[in-house]
Amino acid sequence: MTTSAEELREEVRRRYAESARAVTDETNCGCGSGSCCDGEDATRFGEALYDADQRGELPDAAALASLGCGNPTVVADLHEGESVLDLGSGGGIDVILSAKRVGPAGFAYGLDMTDEMLALARRNAEDAGIKNAIFLKGVIEEVPLPADSVDVVISNCVINLSTDKAAVLAEIARVLRPGGRVGVSDVVAEDRLSSEERAERGSYVGCIAGALSKSEYEEGLKAAGFEEVSVTFTHEVAEGMHGAIVKAVKTLEPGKRGLPVIQEATSSGCC
Ligand SMILES: C[S@@+](CC[C@H](N)C(=O)[O-])C[C@H]1O[C@@H](n2cnc3c(N)ncnc32)[C@H](O)[C@@H]1O
Repeated sequence: MTTSAEELREEVRRRYAESARAVTDETNCGCGSGSCCDGEDATRFGEALYDADQRGELPDAAALASLGCGNPTVVADLHEGESVLDLGSGGGIDVILSAKRVGPAGFAYGLDMTDEMLALARRNAEDAGIKNAIFLKGVIEEVPLPADSVDVVISNCVINLSTDKAAVLAEIARVLRPGGRVGVSDVVAEDRLSSEERAERGSYVGCIAGALSKSEYEEGLKAAGFEEVSVTFTHEVAEGMHGAIVKAVKTLEPGKRGLPVIQEATSSGCC
């Protein structure tokens, strides 16, 4: 029997609700760290991917709850006053770091579908004294924010979990202001691996089986209206599968980029 997209999403939600509960339950807190992918080396996922200074800025529970495969706050090169959206914000680590980076004139949104993660993230942000952030409940395939409302979209090891990646990329393009940028950490497969070969290397809920290939990511971003697209492998997480940095810029209308607007030739030959 094939698993429907809805069943798969529910499986993902259950898996991460369990992770959030494990962190929240202090007697069982060792389960939280680095457990994005079942049985994986904790140096390839989780808090080990943040430097000591950044970890020092976080409440212990936020660092412990980190389940990512990179550090998108560094990838996105955030500036004071910017607004940032973190897709699949989990225990809140990247929202907390982003809120600090953009300062009181900026703002950070976290979006997650799992109640237990949202509760953990809100508590972590409060413990970190964060005032310029909010955590929204929703799915990354249908972002509950208006069009052109944020400067930067980040995400850490979540897009691979989506059952409709084209919708996610379209939503990123919709919510970003023209010229806005996306800086994401995700698991990405080498182009040579088929979907079946990716699934042999790890589970869907463990961030492996649902990974896009490098070309699929690049083409998907271009089709969604991005330019300056790059996908750079950083560390191998399974044979032929990598933690990767994905970057792109939302296309500006030609006239707004300072480029000449090319007039379409007409058959009238008027001028
Ligand atoms: C691997 S964890 C990563 C959490 C966080 N980004 C981090 O680095 O620690 C995946 C998170 O994405 C959320 N998630 C997965 N699929 C989602 C979807 N389609 N919509 C919203 N949230 C989703 C899960 O609830 C979970 O909190």
